[in-house]
Formats: sequence, C-alpha cells, structure tokens
Amino acid sequence: MTRSRITGIAFHVPERVVTNADLEKLMDTSDAWIVERTGIRERRFVEPGVGPADLAAEAAKKALADAGRRVEDVDFIVFATITRDYMFPGSGALLQERLGLSTVGAMDIHNACSGFVYALATADAFVRVGQYRCVLVVGAEVQSTGLNLSTAGRDMAVLFGDGAGVAVVEPSADESRGVLSCVMHAEGAHAKDLWAEAPTSLVMGRFTQQMLDEGRGYPQMNGRQVFKHATTRFPEVILESLERAGHTLDEVALIVPHQANKRIGDAVAERLGVPPAKVFQNIERYGNTTAASIPIALADARDQGLVKPGDLVVLAAFGGGFAWAASVVRW
Ligand code: UT7
Repeated sequence: MTRSRITGIAFHVPERVVTNADLEKLMDTSDAWIVERTGIRERRFVEPGVGPADLAAEAAKKALADAGRRVEDVDFIVFATITRDYMFPGSGALLQERLGLSTVGAMDIHNACSGFVYALATADAFVRVGQYRCVLVVGAEVQSTGLNLSTAGRDMAVLFGDGAGVAVVEPSADESRGVLSCVMHAEGAHAKDLWAEAPTSLVMGRFTQQMLDEGRGYPQMNGRQVFKHATTRFPEVILESLERAGHTLDEVALIVPHQANKRIGDAVAERLGVPPAKVFQNIERYGNTTAASIPIALADARDQGLVKPGDLVVLAAFGGGFAWAASVVRW
C-alpha cells in the first residue's frame, strides 16, 4: 500500500485579536489568572457572519499553494469541527462549494479536540488503499459565538479561540516519508465531563426555554477531571503511536500537541522526560482552537523552521468524548 504524506500545510485566523484585557471588561477575570493557569495571552474571534467553512476556505487555498497543487486537484475533503456552520449539512460540503469543487466528496468529523488527528487517520486510510489522491484535511472552529462571555462562563470563555488549519494529504513519492502511524481512543463514560448539552435531539424543538435560561447550550467542563486525564493520556498515546511506528521518543524532533492549556503541554514534556522546547506550544497567541489547534500549530512550527524534511514529528490530542489520538509523521 502507498504511504500518505502531508504535502502542504497552512492556517488562517480572523484578524480580530481579543486580549485578556479585553475579557477583563466582560467578566470577573484577570490577565494574571489567565496567563498563570493557561498560558493564554490573546486569541482571535471572528466578526459576526463568518463560519468555520469560511475560515477553512482561506486556509485551504494557502495549503494547496504550499503543496504546489490547484483547487481542481482535490478529490476529497475531511472536515473536523465541533462548531459547524449549521446543525446540518456538514461544513465539509460548505467548504466544497466555497472552493468550487463541483461534486467532490466531503465528510465531517465531530470529535472535538482530537478531530484533526481522527481526520488525518481517515485521509491516510483513503490514500493508502488508493481511493483518493489529494485530500484536504481540515480543522476549523468558530468557538467565540458559542461562549458565555460573562463571569458565569469564565472558566470556559477565557480558553477558546477561532481559526482554521488545513493539510493536503497525498500519496508519498518517497516511502520513508509520510504518515507512519495513527492511533485513536475514546472513553464515552466521560462524555459529560466536557460537553454542550443543547441543541439536543432528546427534546422537542432541540432547545427549551428553560435550557436557554440555564445556559445549557454553552460548553460545560469539569476542568480538573479533563486536566487529570489529559496529562495521563497525552504521554500514553504519544508512546503508543511511536511503538506502532517502530520508533522511539529520542528520535522525535518535535511533538505538536493539541493546544489545550500551556500547563498541560509542560506536564506532557515533564512526564515524557523531554525538554519543554520539544513540545511545540503557541496557545499564548491563539488560545484553544479545538480541532484547528494541531494544524495551526504544525503550520506555525514548520513556518518557524522547527519542522524540517526528514524530521520525525508526533501529533497528539486529547479532549471531548473523552477522545484522544496521536499520529507519527516523517516530514
Ligand atoms: O481542549 C480540551 C479541553 N480543555 C482542557 O483541556 C482544559 C483542562 N482544564 C484546565 O485547563 C484547567 O482546569 C482550567 C484552566 C480550566 C482551570 O484551572 P484550575 O487551576 O483547574 O482552576 P479551577 O477550576 O480549580 O479554579 C480555581 C479558581 C476558582 O475559584 P475558587 O473556587 O478557588 O474561589 C474558579 O472559580 O479560579 C476561579 N476561576 C477563575 N478566576 C478568574 C475559574 N475561571 C476563572 C477565570 N478567571 N477565567
């Protein structure tokens, strides 16, 4: 079977920068608390009317240029998001239309923070069996319109940002380079430790006035529980993906984790016994962009010269589901 490879990567974030000082005006929080507990200094928010498919379209054009491909070369889209433009259809179909891709197939993956790695694994499988030859793997989120930007929602509101990252995945011309392994896990027993209850198919009208009044459409999180599981599952899944690929931690040039909290990234480095610089973090500038955070971080790291041809890179994520996943890539 042919190996798949990321041949192009790029990201796009909205222009509007929202600093911690901006959030201080909306809720009882402080720059000092946010920086100390999360490492975040600023994030980007869209202007009203902009959805994940819009952000993804911009990132996709840049990623295709990076791969040296034209839009017409794309033969499939895998779109990871939990903030899709509408309940249905999926944002993949909207992106397909935005790019003018006629009847090219498109699917959504609704898997929270691990969505991009699940999407990459899906594209990898399609390319390896020869079904598709130029797949857009998208992570895009507009979290800002779904946050409770008041003191009642401050634990979640300070964490999230908007953005999109896209990878172009194609057959690898060089067998030694490309996606070497993908591993995926989930534990639905923790579904309600990180979730948004509504809109829900369980009630008529998907939303009741009571649910609206109680803010049950906003994301809810048991922060400490998420933190505890994340710091265990990240190292575990990184080592599992390396074992599956037949490589060891000391061969890794860079780990690119989902950007959940700088303290989680630091704890992952510590538990693995690797220098903090080996775990790439840019949460300071973009916050947690859920499914978009890995492709944004990977593109950022590559653009900074931290990912070079031949480097062994591990992408790893943990989040809602709980679901967690990792992929080893020879760049
Ligand atoms: O993408 C995956 C999803 N999310 C994550 O991975 C996040 C995982 N969890 C975390 O990162 C952390 O649990 C948080 C950053 C969310 C919270 O940090 P923490 O150190 O666990 O704080 P805490 O929830 O224990 O709250 C400590 C205090 C509380 O006040 P009291 O009860 O001690 O008086 C909170 O009410 O901080 C208060 N607090 C805030 N204060 C100022 C909570 N949020 C804020 C805020 N600003 N934004």
